[in-house]
Formats: sequence, structure tokens, C-alpha cells
Amino acid sequence: MTHADGIMLIAQISDTHVQMPGGKLDRNYATAAHLERAVEHLNGLERQPDVVLLTGDTVDEGTAQEYGRLREILSDLKPPLYVIPGNHDNREELRRAFANDGYLPRDGFLHYTVEDWPVRLIGLDTHVVGEHGGALCRERLEWLGARLQESPARPTVVFMHHPPFRVGHQLMDEMGLEPDSVAKFEQVLSCHKQVHQVIAGHLHRPVITRFAGTVASVCPSTAQQLALDLPPLRRLATVMDPAAATLLFWDEQSGTLVHHLSYIDERPTHLLNDGGGWLDNEPLPPGFHS
Ligand SMILES: [Fe+2]
Ligand SMILES: [Fe+2]
Repeated sequence: MTHADGIMLIAQISDTHVQMPGGKLDRNYATAAHLERAVEHLNGLERQPDVVLLTGDTVDEGTAQEYGRLREILSDLKPPLYVIPGNHDNREELRRAFANDGYLPRDGFLHYTVEDWPVRLIGLDTHVVGEHGGALCRERLEWLGARLQESPARPTVVFMHHPPFRVGHQLMDEMGLEPDSVAKFEQVLSCHKQVHQVIAGHLHRPVITRFAGTVASVCPSTAQQLALDLPPLRRLATVMDPAAATLLFWDEQSGTLVHHLSYIDERPTHLLNDGGGWLDNEPLPPGFHS
């Protein structure tokens, strides 16, 4: 599908970690309520995203009940949704939960392509059962190579859970994508120039870097974020930094894909100046005024 204005908008949310009521993350981070807020945010965007990608750690413990709760919240989302697994997911439960949407393979890895839009989307499954780190084994890399080979001229976005690069956070790097997978993934991408961006999750922080001749980025969580602890600090500390969705803006005319962050803030976004003049809004909360 192509819009008359030649624009495609891809939204990404990540690491929703939905739990059942009373669970540790539900109590401390209100992950389900934060996802509800994210859904509301995406539905309320002036320009509706054409698709929403949820890049793993969709639930926290991988139970059927959690997937039930996740589905219920996501059922309010207006654009079509595509999901891939993270280390907190259970591949089979996720497959069952989203089976009716028709895009997930019936068996094997949960990777697939979405062909309906000007930008082709390739979802990768980096999940390794029982591990927090991720991998792309030979079967998954061959599948990816074959998919890229079949449509070399189409602009493409690859989405996955584990970022394919070291981020500088020691503990997260130790539970990142396994180094041999990174090297081989890099080789595959280097042979296929149509990939405009690789987008990932897992880190619970916004990150962007150059990788394999393309751009690679990480979307924050919709709920709790990871404290930015660079070496020598070595800990997994969480903070309630602003949640955000990534919005990838594809402009057919110029052939560019632009990365935006759309904050999902506690305070409802309101205009202070609509471009024509100042509006009669309270500009800042108490404490900010001189
Ligand atoms: Fe996560
Ligand atoms: Fe993760």
C-alpha cells in the first residue's frame, strides 16, 4: 500500500514486559498500564502509523495468562501490529497468542517478512530458550540471506530484539547478541545494501549507531528504563526515564528513512505555541518559573 503523499510511517515499541496483576514488574513499574498509555499515544498521533512493530520482551514470564493480558491491551491498537520474541518471551506461547493474525510461521523460528508497504519489513527471532542473551544460528542467518537476496531493490527495515552491537553497558553487553552471531549478521547485511535500518529493543534505552553499512538503533521500553551506567559502573539499575516509541518516517520521493523518537510522557503533550502565536496554556509545572 502506498499513500498519495508517498509517506510511510513505521512505529516501534519495545519491552512492554506485561505481567499479571500483583507481579513484581506490574507492582513496581505498572508495565500493563504503561502499555495502555503507549497504545493510546500511538492511536492519538495526528499521522497514524501504517504499522506498529513490537520488538520483544512483550511479556515478562512467558505464560499464556500474560499473553492473554497483552493481547487484550493491544486489541485497542488501531494500526496493524507485528511482534517478534525477546528473551522474556516464550516462543510457543507467543506463536499461539498471535496465531490468528496470520503472519507468524506455524513452526520453527518466529521470523517473517511484511510485504504490503513501500518499506519491506523483516522480523528476526534472536530468542534462545533459557538464555537472556540472543543468537542468530546458521538456519536463521541463511533464512535472512535468502530473504534479502529475493528483493534487492526494495528499501528494507530489519527488526529484532537483541541489538547487534555492543552498547557500552557491561552487563547488557554480556547478555547481548552472541559475538559470532553479530559477526555473521554483519557479513550478511554487508552484502545487501537495501537495508536502511536495523531496529532492536532489549536495552530499555534509546541508542543509535552505525553498523554494517547501515544504521542500527534501540527503542526504549514503554515502561521502565535502564540507568545509563557506562564503565566502570557495572549494575542493572532501572529508572523511570521517559518512555518513547520510535517513528521511522519513509519519504518515497527522497528515498530516505528518518528516525524520530515520540515521547510517551506522563504529562499530556500540549501546544505552547501553535506556530501562529502563544496559546493560553500553563507552560511549565511549578518550580520552573523564575
Ligand atoms: Fe526487556
Ligand atoms: Fe530483553
